[in-house]
Amino acid sequence: MAVKKKHAALKPAAKRPARAAAKVAVGWHAPIRDTDSATPKKLGDLLAGVVALETNYISHGEYLEGLSPDGRSWAKDLARRYAGDIRAMLTGVDDESRLAEARDARGALLGLAIVAFNDNGAELCWIIEDMAVLPAARGHGVGAAFVEFIAAEAKKAGAKKLMLESGVDNHGAHRLFEATGFKLYSKVFVRSV
Ligand SMILES: CC(C)(COP(=O)(O)OP(=O)(O)OC[C@H]1O[C@@H](n2cnc3c(N)ncnc32)[C@H](O)[C@@H]1OP(=O)(O)O)[C@@H](O)C(=O)NCCC(=O)NCCS
Repeated sequence: MAVKKKHAALKPAAKRPARAAAKVAVGWHAPIRDTDSATPKKLGDLLAGVVALETNYISHGEYLEGLSPDGRSWAKDLARRYAGDIRAMLTGVDDESRLAEARDARGALLGLAIVAFNDNGAELCWIIEDMAVLPAARGHGVGAAFVEFIAAEAKKAGAKKLMLESGVDNHGAHRLFEATGFKLYSKVFVRSV
């Protein structure tokens, strides 16, 4: 476990509650000024804290990008890396990815998702790079609300596909993806040399 500072709401939910109607607002995080150092750090800590609770989140993408040094464990500086990525998105330095957020009716943050835009010259495809809901907020449709928001925005932007990759054992997340219309598209093979 690489992340030292955990968000207070990161303690695992005692029991996954029955699905309830979600009072969740999903939207894009507002841009910030480059001088605002607190927001990316706070969000980086939060995102890293949630994803690093489990290693089954790790897929080849995290390995290739150095977020996982070995494909099994998380990088020690995960929160710093996420904070850097988030800073670039929120200040417009990175205009090929965007940060979505979910909040409850009182404005409390429930989760974050990073979306990337890929244009292969023929089709625009949006990619959900990361999606994390605070453990205490899970099972209430926040994840599904993220997917629906991102899919609607992708369609509006002219994208033809919405894609994501996921650790092979992240079964709970896979159920969400299948329930929201995703189909298995390819398999990744790796061997030692
Ligand atoms: C995956 C994740 C985003 C789902 O968020 P969520 O708000 O709990 O999702 P929802 O409430 O919209 O769940 C929708 C459906 O997905 C399935 N599902 C999602 N998470 C599940 C879990 N942990 N266990 C079992 N089923 C799960 C269920 O079918 C659920 O439908 P139901 O509530 O009718 O049973 C959340 O568990 C999370 O942040 N996990 C850690 C990070 C991660 O793995 N992200 C996905 C990889 S990109």
